Amino acid sequence: MTSNIIEFIYQDRIIKVRNPDPNETLLNYIRTKLKKTGTKEGCAEGGCGACTVVLGELKNNEIIYKTINSCITFLPTLQGKQLIIVENLTSANGSLHPVQKAMINFHGSQCGFCTPGFVMSLFSMFKNYTKYEDNIIKDSIAGNLCRCTGYQPIIKAAKSLKNKNKTDYFAKNKKKTIHLLKKINNKSIEIYHKGKKYFAPRYVHELKKILKNNTNSILLSGGTDLSLTVTKERKDINSIIYLNSISELNYIKNNNKYIEVGASTPLIEFENYIRKYYPDFTQILKRYGSVQIRNVATIAGNVATASPIGDSLPLLLSLNAQIVLQEFKKRKILFLDNFFISYRKTKMKKGQFIHSIKIPLFQKNTFKAYKVSKRFDDDISSVCAAFNLEIFKNKVKNVRIAYGGMAAIPKRAFFCEKVLSNSVITSEIIKKARHALERDFKPISDMRASGIYRMEVAKNLLEKCFTEIQQKKLIGVYV
Ligand SMILES: Cc1cc2nc3c(=O)[nH]c(=O)nc-3n(C[C@H](O)[C@H](O)[C@H](O)COP(=O)(O)OP(=O)(O)OC[C@H]3O[C@@H](n4cnc5c(N)ncnc54)[C@H](O)[C@@H]3O)c2cc1C
Ligand code: FES
Ligand code: FES
Repeated sequence: MTSNIIEFIYQDRIIKVRNPDPNETLLNYIRTKLKKTGTKEGCAEGGCGACTVVLGELKNNEIIYKTINSCITFLPTLQGKQLIIVENLTSANGSLHPVQKAMINFHGSQCGFCTPGFVMSLFSMFKNYTKYEDNIIKDSIAGNLCRCTGYQPIIKAAKSLKNKNKTDYFAKNKKKTIHLLKKINNKSIEIYHKGKKYFAPRYVHELKKILKNNTNSILLSGGTDLSLTVTKERKDINSIIYLNSISELNYIKNNNKYIEVGASTPLIEFENYIRKYYPDFTQILKRYGSVQIRNVATIAGNVATASPIGDSLPLLLSLNAQIVLQEFKKRKILFLDNFFISYRKTKMKKGQFIHSIKIPLFQKNTFKAYKVSKRFDDDISSVCAAFNLEIFKNKVKNVRIAYGGMAAIPKRAFFCEKVLSNSVITSEIIKKARHALERDFKPISDMRASGIYRMEVAKNLLEKCFTEIQQKKLIGVYV
């Protein structure tokens, strides 16, 4: 069944919007149509968290609460979800939510501009966790910027929540909300609005047909890259095909040889899964944007952007990942090594989409990855590096090294790899390998870093990798 009406839950009611503008942001809708102005606009690019709202989604008969940046969320993607904004936390008789009370008690607000965003991030933490450890608190608010408080009062407010009764209004109303979510959760969307089109299929077979008939449409997953075309470049996107509505593409499979990640799997789910196999992958993803970004952004979206500073890309290159490209009838599998052509250009053709990504499991190897950025959280890399090494008795048997931020595309360090392969690790070899990076890369200078700095960092990360391996006694002391 296809519909041109999007339906979502707001204040315990199903709200229906017929043929909305596919480019309208949720933030705009909240402020101008719902006429609720608690949710603020700071940057309009997902970077400050002032616009944070929470979405309730049904998973295995439970409601999962996710923070998102409403400034970079297109309204139609709300289909089938519950929208919670800061005004909804206060009950009808005016009593505040425990999170709001904590922010007041610990002086977590000064000018107040960032406060609704922080409250929503803490509300989501309150709903999703039972223990509020330091790392959980910091992760939860890493996507919210405050110019005034210096963060400590906000962190104290978050810590104080541990003794609070968790039965809030939303917990009491859970059954009713689940009932409403089930009522609206099952249709594909097709919108036509003043010459603009928006499709949100529910199944891969529907997607294939839509894509075949609309080859000029733009694919939308988490929208954390694409939406900026509208909010920053002020352009319209005339035809959108939304992929995150397809639950068939939201999966992680593992056959002990490789992990396969479906295209619409949010990064937040993947970051938790991959920890067991490649802990450094998780460490990098923890510093990828913010929880708001990772709740919706996908690894497929990251690959498709082909950004030279896309964080997952050097990691996937070093792990020899494969991209499963699907079109109407055919399926192609490409090594990521062969996928990037030039700056933000890939081998993907019109009518194709990334179905999934396959990541081999190297049982015997050591995998290490590093990200260097100006700001620790919520910042794009200046340099990102990944090392996948098979080491036996101080000798490197196999090696794959890849860097981001060092060339127009994420790229392997072939000369450096050549120096290291089949070599016994010595200080002299490391020195040669450092030097070889100069043949591999000629990094540019831009607002994030100078070329000279990037090269020095790349060399130092290589050395850091081997120093850490040595410290873990995977190799003997090299001289
Ligand atoms: C505040 C902020 C912080 C960020 N921080 C980081 C960071 O730390 N590291 C980093 O690497 N990136 C970062 N990004 C960039 C962005 O989050 C990533 O590029 C993200 O992975 C894009 O995924 P998405 O699902 O949101 O893609 P979308 O924005 O939906 O799409 C991006 C592109 O990929 C195409 N596409 C999407 N899915 C598919 C598919 N299945 N098949 C084919 N094409 C597809 C789209 O057409 C579009 O061209 C940040 C962005 C923001 C706004
Ligand atoms: S307004 Fe800054 S993240 Fe949305
Ligand atoms: S209280 Fe002023 S920006 Fe946070």
